[in-house]
Amino acid sequence: MNPSRKIITALGLVIIIVAAALWWFIPAQPLPARVDIKETATKKETIEQYNSDSASLIPSHHNLQPQDAVDTFLAQHWKDPIAPQGKPPAHFSAHEASLAPETCGQCHVQQYQDWQKSLHSKTMGPGILWQFRLMPQADANQCMKCHAPLAEQKALIAQAQGWPNAPQQKPPAYVPSDLGHQGLVCASCHVRKHQRFGPEPLKEVAAQLPHDGFTIAPAFEDSRFCATCHQFPQDGPRTNNKLREDTYAQWQQSVFAKNGQQCQSCHMPDRKHQWKGIHDQQMVTNALSTQLTREGNQVYVDIINSGAGHYFPTYMVPKVIVELRYHAGNEKKFSVIATDTIGWNVDVSLAQERTDTRIPAGEKRRISATLPPDVDNKGSIDIHLTVKPREHYERTFLSVLDQRDKLDAETLTLLQAAYDEAVATQYQFNLRSYSLTGKN
Ligand code: HEC
Ligand code: HEC
Ligand code: HEC
Ligand code: HEC
Ligand code: HEC
Repeated sequence: MNPSRKIITALGLVIIIVAAALWWFIPAQPLPARVDIKETATKKETIEQYNSDSASLIPSHHNLQPQDAVDTFLAQHWKDPIAPQGKPPAHFSAHEASLAPETCGQCHVQQYQDWQKSLHSKTMGPGILWQFRLMPQADANQCMKCHAPLAEQKALIAQAQGWPNAPQQKPPAYVPSDLGHQGLVCASCHVRKHQRFGPEPLKEVAAQLPHDGFTIAPAFEDSRFCATCHQFPQDGPRTNNKLREDTYAQWQQSVFAKNGQQCQSCHMPDRKHQWKGIHDQQMVTNALSTQLTREGNQVYVDIINSGAGHYFPTYMVPKVIVELRYHAGNEKKFSVIATDTIGWNVDVSLAQERTDTRIPAGEKRRISATLPPDVDNKGSIDIHLTVKPREHYERTFLSVLDQRDKLDAETLTLLQAAYDEAVATQYQFNLRSYSLTGKN
């Protein structure tokens, strides 16, 4: 079996064949009249630029009918495919025109430093690149709409992969040659036709700004901005009738949505560009509270998803193994009195669900255990977690590594790197300790 096909299906993609013509120099639409802060100070004015044709622009992967200005803006902003930026305005300096994240970072220092460490800057790693070597370009373009969405990125990747309709020309000066491999660059969220879009500024900004200032778009502070990539449409791929990517819908049903707490409030606190999630021990700690109840030699530990705005974890990729470790007295030595795995366990072909023990926001999972008959009341119980943020990929990649004789050397090198990277994300720690005498 062609492993690439298997993986493509495994990753649950709706493959739509699009003839994507990649041109650097498609003339840009004329930029909207010079935008400065004054002109964009009210939300109404901001949105009016998008009023034409908005309804027909809702991309198929966007669940929602345009209900308000945010939907209308997003339909245009994440139009698939995103149009090339085109020629920069003539009065732009090379600095203002550049799409390179490092260049943005010369002025936006903190955002750049945080972004560089975030997973959004690593969306074009070996995990996706080994698959591109086995895929037709049209399919890979579908992946890139979430992993490297700019037209300029797709063009560079096409050149690097040697795809037949890659542009012949070198990229223009404002497109750095590594842009395709830099993943979700600043410009992919913030720049269209060389115009900057961002949230309402928190503090006053100067009247004259570089890059013609920016246009305020309230969508940046809305969960729907993230849903573009973190939610499949209702007719998207499912296993056991559950959408494989359903984060936005899970959030909508949570108390956080009811309180108006968007994805950004937890994943971009103070507008930080870190996007920490399951790969981060502190985030996992924030997600969970616990409660221990003892009845004689029987203990019950409740793991409560009190801090994630969606299921814990949100989709099938991560697994969290919980061990209850009983220590007698102050001994370091322990015995494991219960083990449980939290996650959505699906086989590598994605055809079958084995178990689904994810915890919806606000709900809990109970683990019970029996203490040893000679239980020491000075003893303690640790709730120990082993987090495997990429467990599903580990299994998937391994199943392809088993067919290594069918892969060329470069594909194999990338695949091996992807597998090693996935395994290296595992970590373990004690979430909480309960002493059996104390109350805690
Ligand atoms: C020469 C310096 C400079 C460069 C280069 C630059 N910017 Fe800016 N940018 C500014 C200044 C100054 C502001 C005003 C607000 C502020 O200080 O953050 C601004 C504002 C913004 C805003 C609006 C922030 C808000 O409050 O909504 C966004 C978004 C933005 N820039 C994105 C970018 C991106 C993306 C790049 C690279 C493609 C970039 N900028 C390159 C100086 C720069
Ligand atoms: C609808 C948006 C979307 C599309 C389309 C998409 N992905 Fe992803 N992909 C994501 C998101 C979101 C994650 C992060 C999930 C997580 O937390 O692991 C991800 C993670 C991954 C990862 C694991 C992280 C890494 O870099 O190793 C791989 C590999 C991957 N995707 C490959 C693909 C491939 C191949 C395609 C096309 C066949 C594709 N994706 C299409 C949204 C998408
Ligand atoms: C995945 C999309 C995404 C990427 C990639 C991204 N940003 Fe942002 N950016 C946002 C969102 C969303 C906000 C608004 C957050 C909020 O309001 O809570 C924002 C806010 C900003 C702001 C306003 C900050 C403030 O304090 O008011 C600036 C400036 C900015 N981004 C620059 C950048 C730069 C520079 C990069 C690249 C190094 C970058 N962004 C990458 C989505 C993105
Ligand atoms: C253009 C598509 C796109 C948009 C828009 C986007 N993301 Fe992502 N996001 C991804 C992809 C792809 C990954 C996978 C990165 C990887 O593992 O290589 C990801 C990873 C993440 C992660 C890391 C998860 C982990 O496994 O630890 C978090 C958290 C996250 N995104 C939150 C957000 C939030 C919040 C927003 C909205 C402000 C947002 N994303 C907007 C595509 C997107
Ligand atoms: C109340 C805070 C909160 C809100 C709101 C929230 N998250 Fe999370 N998110 C977390 C925490 C904590 C984690 C780490 C634990 C986990 O993985 O569930 C996390 C993890 C993630 C992950 C990592 C992968 C995984 O399987 O869990 C992604 C991706 C993500 N969130 C995206 C989003 C998106 C998109 C939204 C908005 C639709 C959102 N989050 C809303 C707190 C939040």
